[in-house]
Amino acid sequence: MYLISSHEMLKDAQRRGYAVPAFNIHNLETVQVVARTAARMRSPVILAGTPGTYRHAGVEYLVSICQAAAHEYRIPLVLHLDHHEDEQDIHNKVEAGIRSAMIDASHFPFEENIEKVRSVVTYCHRMGASVEAELGLLGGQEDDLIVDAANAKFTDPLKAAEFVRRTGIDSLAVAIGTAHGLYKEEPRLDFARLAAIREQVDIPLVLHGASGVPEADVRRCIELGICKVNVATELKIAFADAMKAFLGSHPDASDPRQYLVPAMAAMEEVVEAKIRMCMSDNKI
Ligand code: 13P
Repeated sequence: MYLISSHEMLKDAQRRGYAVPAFNIHNLETVQVVARTAARMRSPVILAGTPGTYRHAGVEYLVSICQAAAHEYRIPLVLHLDHHEDEQDIHNKVEAGIRSAMIDASHFPFEENIEKVRSVVTYCHRMGASVEAELGLLGGQEDDLIVDAANAKFTDPLKAAEFVRRTGIDSLAVAIGTAHGLYKEEPRLDFARLAAIREQVDIPLVLHGASGVPEADVRRCIELGICKVNVATELKIAFADAMKAFLGSHPDASDPRQYLVPAMAAMEEVVEAKIRMCMSDNKI
């Protein structure tokens, strides 16, 4: 099985009123958990890696592991480039077999953002890869991408329409009040802004920073046009907490085939809950 683009997957979600969950993965075990849970629940799924993840695991390793998972579970799998900023880096990874990319030029001025995104779209579409880009600027921290709350910027609906038209992207990441990482207080999402963006833009919309967002709010976002929901932090915490608890109660444990098992089980519970939240189960 080969790795597919997210274009058709997100269009199906848009047509049928659910969202595809995009889970950040880091290594063999995290890919296994996401793929096997998605297969068990018959959910389309996107495996997302930041530049830091690809540096950690190696591009060839991640591509091969994800291909093996698609083959083993017989489900369509997207391996995605999350928050990539370097065009050449995107080219290299598409050449290695990845067919879904986010070019994040959201911190550049509008015209520069358009120019950088359009160039990536031209290349990726020629290669059969889909492209996501962001307009506005999400707060919080994801790897070495840090935006403090004062610099976060919400997406302007009219600019979003122009951005989509002039770049030719397949999906648009919106900034409506979510942030990467943990929230200090409950996020307040700007649903009216999301509805206004939806009125202007007809491609699938993407919600970043879904960890810690109440399920009812995510569901509302899906009703208002969100077709892809990104989750990273909650998975990492579940995995790490279960591993810490196991090692705390088994101080002599040294076998990864033992201490990784409860970590994977804890992560699986979160993946399952997020698939239900996205209403993507039983869609393949
Ligand atoms: P969280 O870590 O807040 O879930 O955000 C994930 C994300 O948006 C990945 O791009």
